[in-house]
Amino acid sequence: MINLAFESSCDDFSCAVLSKDAAVLENGNVQILSNIVYSQDYVHGIYGGVVPELASRNHVKAFLPAFRIALSEAGITLKDVNLISATAGPGLVGSLLIGLMCAKTISYALDIPLAPVNHIEGHIFSPFLEISETEEMFPFVALVISGGHTHLYLVKSHSDIKLIGKTRDDASGELFDKISNYLGFGYPGGRIVDELAEKGDKDAFKFPLPMMHSKNLDMSFSGLKTAVVTTIGGFGGPGKIKENTVYDIFASLREAAAELLYKKTSEACSLYKVKTVTVSGGVSANSRIRKIFKENGEKSGLKIIFPSLKYATDNAAMIGYAGFFKNSVDPSALRSEFLNINADPSWEL
Ligand code: KG4
Ligand code: ZN
Repeated sequence: MINLAFESSCDDFSCAVLSKDAAVLENGNVQILSNIVYSQDYVHGIYGGVVPELASRNHVKAFLPAFRIALSEAGITLKDVNLISATAGPGLVGSLLIGLMCAKTISYALDIPLAPVNHIEGHIFSPFLEISETEEMFPFVALVISGGHTHLYLVKSHSDIKLIGKTRDDASGELFDKISNYLGFGYPGGRIVDELAEKGDKDAFKFPLPMMHSKNLDMSFSGLKTAVVTTIGGFGGPGKIKENTVYDIFASLREAAAELLYKKTSEACSLYKVKTVTVSGGVSANSRIRKIFKENGEKSGLKIIFPSLKYATDNAAMIGYAGFFKNSVDPSALRSEFLNINADPSWEL
């Protein structure tokens, strides 16, 4: 089975082609034939964040080249496609509409079933693009950390996903982006903070973590952001603070965020008696978060699975992966229902 997938929920346009043996409906064994991603970081960088109208306009430009290259790299034509998958939400409505309408058009014109996929579902299962999932891995705890999400889920199956904790304010990616912006390092800030943190001392500052000891699985990052901004102010503010102090702040900030994320995730595992954890979304590219989760997880007997860096940030391959499972549930419903599918910017799992 050949699956053509689209992702355009925010500022990246992506088109992928995946293949899976139709006779083998058990989990895993998906082959990624192509995964083209057009990043718009250079467009939004100067504004310090995503400008929705510009994101939509650039998706319109990216669609045809991404689509053509994805097909040619995969060595297929549209005649080979049996399934189309597209992100239907959550995200920016203008952005979502571009990818979804392209998908609906191809689906309608060629009578190919269309699977609408929740973007977060795509992230949750993204580690399995490269590591085959097995029955023993379920149920697992999924931590999704991105520019808009910092959510914990209990995943019992592909169709049984329950939200068990989340940030009450900023997302973890937002924290990195805002601090980077504040200091003039640009957007998106996560990778920049991560790289510069390598030059700093993680123990230089002890930042407060408001919900670290709360009795539930919720988190908060805005208090951490305020503490960092106040600390920067104490050194004279952006432009006056010394380079080495900035590196120390980045290292201490990254450490605090990683500690909070690990603590809440391990608490979720104890509470639900789960031994497998997936960590995904753009922030899962963070080198310190990867290290802390791997080291502490090993000590506690937890199996921690990350996607490789290219599948951590937004991509269509993860949307195609989730789409396969919708198709295996009810292909005829996908075919008949597709005209009712619409973009839902606040679609909650
Ligand atoms: O999943 P994603 O590509 O898009 C959303 O769905 O939001 O995540 C983007 C987020 C941004 O906030 C970016 O700063 C962050 O992922 N990010 C990182 C790193 N690389 C990207 N955050 C921390 N460390 C990184 N290495
Ligand atoms: Zn995302």
